[in-house]
Amino acid sequence: MKIRFLLNGEAVEMSETTPTRTLLDWLRETRGLNGTKEGCNEGDCGACTVMVTDGTGARALNACILFLPQLHGKAVRTVEGISGPEGQLHPVQQAMIDHHGSQCGFCTPGFILSMAVAHLNGERDHATALAGNLCRCTGYAPILRAAQAAAEQPVPEWMVSDAAWLTKNNKVPALPASPESADALADLYAAHPEATLVAGATDVGLWVTKALREPEPMIFLNRCADLRGVEIGEHEVRVGAMTDMNTFGAAIEALHPSYAQMIRRYGSTQVRGAATVGGNIANGSPIGDNPPALIALDAVVHLRRGAERRAMPLEAFFIAYGKQDRQPGEFVEAVSFPRQDDRLKCYKLSKRFDQDISALCGCFNVRVEDGIVTAARIAFGGMAGVPQRAAHVESALLGQPWEGDTIRMAQAGFDDDFAPMSDMRASARYRLETARAMLERYFAEDMGEMVSVLEVSA
Ligand SMILES: Cc1cc2nc3c(=O)[nH]c(=O)nc-3n(C[C@H](O)[C@H](O)[C@H](O)COP(=O)(O)OP(=O)(O)OC[C@H]3O[C@@H](n4cnc5c(N)ncnc54)[C@H](O)[C@@H]3O)c2cc1C
Ligand code: FES
Ligand code: FES
Repeated sequence: MKIRFLLNGEAVEMSETTPTRTLLDWLRETRGLNGTKEGCNEGDCGACTVMVTDGTGARALNACILFLPQLHGKAVRTVEGISGPEGQLHPVQQAMIDHHGSQCGFCTPGFILSMAVAHLNGERDHATALAGNLCRCTGYAPILRAAQAAAEQPVPEWMVSDAAWLTKNNKVPALPASPESADALADLYAAHPEATLVAGATDVGLWVTKALREPEPMIFLNRCADLRGVEIGEHEVRVGAMTDMNTFGAAIEALHPSYAQMIRRYGSTQVRGAATVGGNIANGSPIGDNPPALIALDAVVHLRRGAERRAMPLEAFFIAYGKQDRQPGEFVEAVSFPRQDDRLKCYKLSKRFDQDISALCGCFNVRVEDGIVTAARIAFGGMAGVPQRAAHVESALLGQPWEGDTIRMAQAGFDDDFAPMSDMRASARYRLETARAMLERYFAEDMGEMVSVLEVSA
């Protein structure tokens, strides 16, 4: 396997590597690039943030859960590679000095990289860009002030050279385990159904770094460009399985703003830049945030095995905890849902506002005509072993007047729909009470009483 990429402006080629070797380990152990830090080794702290550029642009990613084959044909910059050729500081580095944004300095390279990517991309929502970087000593205000100050400075010319290099060197030889299209993937996976598919590796990465598993052979999906992207048609929205969460959130903001706002709280910028919609469905997690929202939108999952394709309502895909309706050699190709007037609200409840897995996530899509409920799709994550609809609540609402008494009557249905578990995130009782409160909140918001969890800001 010959993996080629650009590292801090220098072309790198390696002929032999285990596919589970992470960029972080390789940078530190083989290249002596120790500026990229190892904190948690599971995508939570941002100390290992690097900049990765490909044909879709530059993004901040966590090097600790990024496998080397995922970098084939891309460009990487670490903290050692963002100052100028004459040693000039990048504007974010200078701003961190000017605004006293660093104390012990352990988190600083990660912050610098997140800030440099946001600076390059002209992102001004600094709190969002930096939510995946943890600092235990400086406090975030000086760091945010540094990001604000740097945003006024132009992008240094050396920061755009990666994109220019990629344009000139856009052809790299294919890697055997990295198919270049959905067709090639279908053939390869049908021939090797025992392989582990790797999409964004935000789950698979942790199997390696935390569970010390070696999930080989592996098939990397990131070069299948035709599995990426969101098509918004007249009647349908179709989302390719390899669409990352940042791209998906931006694409659906105008259609379903509450969904996009929920995605803003999904992991961090670095996690959303890697994690894919298909991976979040295929992993079958009962606390994944996309499935309840997609089920509430009446989504269909599209599966493919070799040349055979089939589709089913997304809720039918989740059979039981850890069990999905997916055959050996079959993969998720896309998910689609009907274009519809926006009635969707997504409520993600987690202990931390940013970068936290949901205790529960409730998604509500209720239609009302002439004061009567004509359709209701309500789905939850975190309330059962699979993402699941609240069937009793839905039928208690259907055909009833859209008013407070109906809500109170329907709330009782949650006891019939769910028997949630108690775990470290929430007790069963709290989950049930919160689900009932979410329905009330949905109604209150629909009556014009807005409740925003974004109302407290720095
Ligand atoms: C720090 C951190 C924060 C997180 N926060 C959240 C959060 O807020 N909300 C949330 O829902 N999740 C969260 N996650 C979990 C994770 O990001 C998601 O589940 C993610 O969507 C998985 O997608 P991926 O592309 O990274 O999948 P991968 O890790 O590449 O794969 C996951 C599983 O799906 C399979 N797979 C991937 N793509 C396909 C496909 N197309 N067809 C068939 N099988 C496939 C893989 O073989 C594997 O079994 C977080 C993870 C981390 C590390
Ligand atoms: S080391 Fe913490 S996110 Fe990578
Ligand atoms: S400066 Fe010490 S962790 Fe941020």
